Amino acid sequence: MNSIRLRSLPHLLLALFLTFAGTQQAAAQDAGATTTVKKEGVVPGATDGANAATVTAAADGGASGGDAAAIAAGDALFKTNCAQCHAVNEVIVGPALAGITKRRTISWLIPWIKNSSKVVASGDEYAVAIYNKYNKQQMPSFALSDSEVTSILAWVTAEEGKAVATAGVTAGNAAAADGQAEAGGADAGAGKYVDILLIVLVVVLIVLVVTLVIIGNLMKDVLRGRKDLDGRDVEILEQRFDWGKMYRSPVLRGIVGVVFALVLLYEGVQTVMAVGLTQGYQPTQPIAFSHKLHAGEHQINCAYCHTSVYKSKSANIPSANICMNCHSQIKTESPEIKKIYRAIERKQPIQWVRIHNLPDLAYFNHSQHTQVAGLQCQTCHGPIQNMEVVYQYSALTMGWCINCHREMPVNAKDNKYYDNLVKLHDTKNAGAPFTVSSNGGTECSKCHY
Ligand code: HEC
Ligand code: HEC
Ligand code: HEC
Ligand code: HEC
Ligand code: HEC
Ligand code: HEC
Repeated sequence: MNSIRLRSLPHLLLALFLTFAGTQQAAAQDAGATTTVKKEGVVPGATDGANAATVTAAADGGASGGDAAAIAAGDALFKTNCAQCHAVNEVIVGPALAGITKRRTISWLIPWIKNSSKVVASGDEYAVAIYNKYNKQQMPSFALSDSEVTSILAWVTAEEGKAVATAGVTAGNAAAADGQAEAGGADAGAGKYVDILLIVLVVVLIVLVVTLVIIGNLMKDVLRGRKDLDGRDVEILEQRFDWGKMYRSPVLRGIVGVVFALVLLYEGVQTVMAVGLTQGYQPTQPIAFSHKLHAGEHQINCAYCHTSVYKSKSANIPSANICMNCHSQIKTESPEIKKIYRAIERKQPIQWVRIHNLPDLAYFNHSQHTQVAGLQCQTCHGPIQNMEVVYQYSALTMGWCINCHREMPVNAKDNKYYDNLVKLHDTKNAGAPFTVSSNGGTECSKCHY
């Protein structure tokens, strides 16, 4: 009876397929269930946040904003405009924005975000205080509409709600049991559902395999009881699983070969894409010099050491003489400081390891960005004032330069050079901001000679 043999392979495949499809379906159903659970957890949380925002907005007598759509819009606006300097719960360049709608009214916040320097110039007490507190770093002005600003604020309020809730849950703080806390807890719990789902899946699979083996054995037993089997059928029936055969199978070899080739290809592409990418590079420096200590705690201005950063193409690394302005008196016994003295005695510069390094084919000018554009160092170099050891914060790829040039409005305020260009631009593209790229900042020749 050849038929058993012929049919057994397709049957096996069919059975496998059905099992797989079955579990997939079960998984899909389970996943569906989880997303609804998740949704039930998240959506009220989001609306809660939005309600809070609406309440604050309304209480402040400002525009009403803050449904889920506004929050989503606010999220996107925040990421493109504000995230480089602000986070909700953490000071980056500017203050943490959590609780901002409680600290300030909407009618204060809208003009501030649109043009903070105007508010500072008007002599507003709070504005002047915070401006001074943040070392007179000016926040750029933004051509945002009132409703765009309210949606950013709605997003911030929703985020701070979430953060409070998660903090409450992790701290096991049962007291934080208001609506937002519960919603946030469900959100944090969503990760757990995935774990549980996976465990359930594994159990289901094990049960399936065991059941299949039992059924297989049962069927074998039934077949063994039959008398009409010929020699070959018996042979198949008593066949043992043959690993050697599997190993020799061209199909299996083919599959393994293809998977192997794909993995190699993927790794290869990743490696090639990463050539020359040194984001995160953090070499050990010859002296344990800390920006956190000098620029952070002691608030020494960046340009005190990087003297040429506002004036020329490159920001210099300070010579040992600049260190000596202070360290001829401060910490003279420290072994790290003695290294400075040794360098001076030997008349050799300190061998700092260079971190940022564009290839020669690209032209980058600091003064253009720090002095003319008024950008903060942190926009490109990250929170240097918190770094014990400096690392490369940005990717420094061409895409990184170009993305900013496409989005960043030129700082044309009080700069006569730009007056005509801006006028010309505005008559042609009413409403669109005058970005670096509108001024030709994405032309190849601007950065490549
Ligand atoms: C280049 C950095 C930078 C960017 C970009 C930026 N800010 Fe700021 N922001 C600051 C700084 C610095 C301060 C502190 C005040 C000052 O020095 O002017 C500040 C202050 C604020 C404050 C007052 C905070 C408080 O605690 O009172 C708000 C609100 C604010 N920013 C909102 C925004 C929003 C919204 C955006 C995006 C549309 C934004 N900022 C983009 C740097 C920035
Ligand atoms: C007291 C002097 C001093 C001050 C103040 C200072 N720096 Fe530095 N900076 C150094 C020295 C020395 C190095 C080289 C050693 C190192 O990388 O830590 C350096 C390195 C750097 C680098 C990396 C350069 C490279 O190799 O690519 C950056 C970026 C930088 N500083 C930015 C800043 C910024 C931004 C500030 C202000 C927030 C600042 N520095 C303030 C002394 C200073
Ligand atoms: C404007 C003053 C000033 C300048 C300039 C300055 N430092 Fe400092 N430095 C300080 C102060 C203040 C401390 C903290 C001393 C303390 O903790 O008591 C410090 C601490 C240090 C320490 C830690 C010493 C220890 O053992 O705790 C090192 C290392 C150091 N500086 C290296 C440098 C180097 C290298 C330069 C030059 C690139 C430099 N400093 C320039 C003011 C300065
Ligand atoms: C628009 C982005 C941007 C801003 C803003 C910026 N830098 Fe840089 N910085 C760079 C890039 C890109 C390099 C690498 C330059 C190179 O390799 O030619 C760099 C390199 C440096 C270096 C290493 C020395 C050099 O010139 O190559 C120092 C130090 C430095 N920056 C300090 C600063 C300080 C201090 C500020 C603020 C006053 C600042 N930077 C603002 C992008 C920026
Ligand atoms: C965070 C934003 C930002 C990043 C990142 C940035 N730039 Fe710029 N860049 C600007 C702004 C803003 C100006 C306009 C300055 C002005 O007002 O003329 C500018 C201007 C320039 C100009 C002069 C353009 C002109 O029209 O004359 C060159 C060249 C340039 N950038 C090169 C670079 C290179 C190279 C990089 C990447 C290594 C880079 N920039 C990264 C914001 C950025
Ligand atoms: C805003 C500045 C800027 C502009 C505009 C710009 N580039 Fe670049 N380009 C760079 C920087 C920075 C690098 C180096 C990036 C790196 O090392 O990953 C680079 C690298 C390159 C490279 C070498 C890539 C490599 O991996 O070595 C080529 C080719 C190139 N650019 C072509 C162009 C062409 C063509 C244009 C015009 C369409 C252009 N660039 C416009 C900044 C710019």
